[in-house]
Amino acid sequence: MTANPFRLVRLERVGSTQEAAREMVRSGIGGGTAILAGEQTAGRGMGDRTWQSPRGLGIWLTIIHRSARPKGEWPALTVAAAAGVCGAIEGAGLRPRTRWPNDVLLSGRKVAGVLADTESDAVLIGIGLNVLQQDCDFSPELRGRATSIRLEAQRDGIEPPDLETMLAEVLSQMARSLRIFESAGPDAVIPAFWERSIDRGKRVTIRLPSAMLVEGPVIGLGEIGQLLIETERGAVAVASGTVVRMEEG
Ligand code: BTN
Repeated sequence: MTANPFRLVRLERVGSTQEAAREMVRSGIGGGTAILAGEQTAGRGMGDRTWQSPRGLGIWLTIIHRSARPKGEWPALTVAAAAGVCGAIEGAGLRPRTRWPNDVLLSGRKVAGVLADTESDAVLIGIGLNVLQQDCDFSPELRGRATSIRLEAQRDGIEPPDLETMLAEVLSQMARSLRIFESAGPDAVIPAFWERSIDRGKRVTIRLPSAMLVEGPVIGLGEIGQLLIETERGAVAVASGTVVRMEEG
């Protein structure tokens, strides 16, 4: 484990670290800053979802990243961040998988999510990682669909890491992922997501923002992390959309 590669700002309680980071960017804070909350009262997930962020049980973090890569490549930062989170979880002895576009899973349940926003010339890379929750700490809607590092470590009979150890690992793996992205671009980070993907070869149905449905087997990831689906009309690269159906198993 290396020394913290980011300037770390710790906030005890905040609405959302994404919004705190946005304010900091507007006030001129530099890249390479990581905002960590002990608790979020209005944690945001992708789309209009919320993100449960109870005090002291997880890593609720936004990294302010100023990229020198072309803006058109920035969408691949979601994939790069998910791969970084996977690296940290693997450091704890567990075997995470990814699910397009932004999920990290353990035993088929969501353990972490990534949310990337932009604010002027900065990317705000939000990471929510469930670390210490027991089942009863999840709301009834999440129970059975969400998990934590602690629950999975206990299930595997290994010692769960504490929050600070996990944080150091996440920061170090994120620094590594961002370094690779900056020096070699999306091509260099996408394989780490795809190799761990549960979507490979599965039939999916995606609802595009236009409400159109795209259906077919997943055959890969596109140049900036889009989901490549084989359809009757050829391969379609989906940049954003909602997965409405996915083949089990
Ligand atoms: C998702 O899976 O939908 C994305 C979840 C992202 C949650 C993190 S927690 C830290 C940061 N602040 C937020 O309000 N959201 C992200």
